[in-house]
Amino acid sequence: MNNVDGRQWAWLGLIMICLAYGGFALVSGVVEFVALVGGPDPVGAKVRAVPPVFVVHALTGGTALAVGAVQFNGRLLRASPAFHRWAGRTYVACIWITSVAALWSAVFFDVPIGGRVALAVLAAHWFAATTIAYRMVRRRRIAEHRRWMIRSFALSLFFVTFPLWTAAAAASPLPEQVGYPLAVVAAWGLNVVLAEIWIARYPTVASPPAGPPASRLAGPPASRPADCGDEPTPGPAPASLGAG
Ligand code: HEM
Repeated sequence: MNNVDGRQWAWLGLIMICLAYGGFALVSGVVEFVALVGGPDPVGAKVRAVPPVFVVHALTGGTALAVGAVQFNGRLLRASPAFHRWAGRTYVACIWITSVAALWSAVFFDVPIGGRVALAVLAAHWFAATTIAYRMVRRRRIAEHRRWMIRSFALSLFFVTFPLWTAAAAASPLPEQVGYPLAVVAAWGLNVVLAEIWIARYPTVASPPAGPPASRLAGPPASRPADCGDEPTPGPAPASLGAG
């Protein structure tokens, strides 16, 4: 435990939160799906803006949250670049689907118009940040890939932080027409700011703690990933990063 630094504790906390919220999202999606196909509804599925779109949003969003959190551990990245690539593809595919579903739901969501607009723009931002992260790794621009993935995941964490802001807005004297959009913008903005602070504070992935030689963690040279803090190097990229 002496070798666990602050970043690893933060990662463990993130994993626990994302598994809990991801699990909740998956259960919500399944409950809605079962109600949608006329099955039993013991917990009372909520009324959704576009029920089938919500099912897709919750199932892919829950998966993205759980898979995405795993990706930020430098030790895992070095130990298994292949796992990192497949989990990364899963995350990107899920966010593309979740964000499009979020945009769709936002348009028809029963909240003040300002809230609908803010949610729709956020969904587009989320899609764009994730796409840029993906394009960066395809171009072997690893440091930028890492920065954009942190930004993308901070937007995924909107699902975790937004309920706190809506509760605060509901407890405030602000009318819903003002409080709801303000809660969206506050949750979105704070996550963006925290991501930028994290990127500035930790410009590279965590170094493996003292212990086994680096070569054992990294595997054979041919499959060793570039450190996610590395700037791109000229010439052919390692095969392990080939498909992003
Ligand atoms: C990975 C992150 C996300 C997950 C796991 C997720 C999952 C969920 C879940 C489970 C709900 C239902 C909440 C409840 O019952 O109270 C929900 C609702 C909703 N989410 Fe997300 N969400 C995520 C991110 C986002 C983002 C970033 C947006 C921004 C556009 C968004 C837009 C919406 C909308 C508009 C609804 C209401 C849908 C309806 O009730 O018809 N979600 N989401």
